[in-house]
Amino acid sequence: MRSNRRGMALLAALISVLACAPADEPPPAGQAESANGYTAGAPGIGDPDFPADGNGGYDVAHYGLVVDYAPTTKRLEGVTTIQAAATQNLSSFNLDLSGLDVRGITVDDAPATFTRKGDELTVTPPEPVDKNAGFTVKVTYSGVPKPAKDSSNLGTYGFISTADGAFVTSEPNGSKTWFPNNDHPADKATFDFAITVPAGVTAVANGELTGQPVTAGGKTTYRWSERHPMASYLATATLGKFDLRQGKTPGGIPNFAATDPKFKTSLDKLYTVSGEVTDYWGTVFGPYPFSSTGGVVDDYSAGYALENQTKPIYGGFEPDESIIAHELAHQWFGDSLTISRWKDLWLNEGFATYAEWLWSEHKGKQTAEAIFNDYHKRPATDPMWSYPPGRAKPDDLFNQSVYTRGGMTLHALRKAVGDQTFFQLLKAWTAGHRYGHVTTESFIDLAEQMSGKDLGPLFDAWLYQPRRPA
Ligand code: ARG
Ligand code: ZN
Repeated sequence: MRSNRRGMALLAALISVLACAPADEPPPAGQAESANGYTAGAPGIGDPDFPADGNGGYDVAHYGLVVDYAPTTKRLEGVTTIQAAATQNLSSFNLDLSGLDVRGITVDDAPATFTRKGDELTVTPPEPVDKNAGFTVKVTYSGVPKPAKDSSNLGTYGFISTADGAFVTSEPNGSKTWFPNNDHPADKATFDFAITVPAGVTAVANGELTGQPVTAGGKTTYRWSERHPMASYLATATLGKFDLRQGKTPGGIPNFAATDPKFKTSLDKLYTVSGEVTDYWGTVFGPYPFSSTGGVVDDYSAGYALENQTKPIYGGFEPDESIIAHELAHQWFGDSLTISRWKDLWLNEGFATYAEWLWSEHKGKQTAEAIFNDYHKRPATDPMWSYPPGRAKPDDLFNQSVYTRGGMTLHALRKAVGDQTFFQLLKAWTAGHRYGHVTTESFIDLAEQMSGKDLGPLFDAWLYQPRRPA
């Protein structure tokens, strides 16, 4: 499900230019043109900062993940079924997959050939696929997943084994460590999960359980379904021994909380605060976009939390109200409204950080204004002022500026347009792009349209200049 129409038009234009190239000139590498007008899908989706992430030539509608995991051997056996539509006449296409052994691939039930190079898995179906045609890819694979390890500020992410199962957090591009997919947020899809683990282990994925877990032969299968479009990095299959609390928020949204036994004393707080925050954000940001809420605390010291759709995960610490407010704000900003390019990450992290300040204000603690002022006092030499948050750097994506100065941008906007317009704007923003894709330009346009003000200078100073705004 890709809403980047402009990108598609560009790609189509590029392909027609290539198609008109003189016949004696070989097509550029990676754009092999066959005589019949079918071409290979691009090995990247077109994010210039992450050129290998995602793929071109198709748009995924649905992933069906079947995963069997053995915590003792750390082996995963998987079958991923992908329903997609071709966005060009397609002779071959890529999936992203890191490590693991591919046993076989079919396209529309016919055996396909495939090659691997780095994290690119190239699939050639026996028959080329027509533009706009739907097709189904089934990949059977297995192996010991290896998480991504990043030397800058991403840490370890992807499918991370733990003593009793796995901790799965894939932002920005770690979903390829556990299933083949189009690993970039520009292509969202719905997900079904069938996860088999040893009896006694719980499997927690996105969305809702569809039926009771089924135990047979010492193994239990959990089925989960996320019916709303989801970016691959938000998919999880968190496995282990968990204490659970299930019910509904006071406002009536199904609420699912899970804690590793080591964090059992956090379970009630996680459940209660997640419910209260979800309901409150519904009044501030507009209706909750998904069918359930909740959270997971696992015994893995990730050094971060992640806003996994419907079920944020907290890595090895008891979450306080502030971080719960942050991760649940992401359900609107990041999960329902998704960025098409990583450079726009402040639309996720700046908004979720500002939500922490709104929560503090709501609870009668420091106001957003007071928090803003404390940060604004930081000396001109503070690293935050030299990193413009409106263009997240690929090698320093989660820089503190993207969070804090991103949040400050929203407070500066609030002061410029007034509370009434600001809070109307937040609701119009989430309503107008529900389940879709967003860009910084589209946010600035809406803010200008709703306030009737020229906000160019404000956004320029806060988002794009390497110095402290006045
Ligand atoms: N989006 C997460 C948050 O808001 C941070 C994820 C960081 N990812 C990573 N690989 N370190 O807190
Ligand atoms: Zn965040």
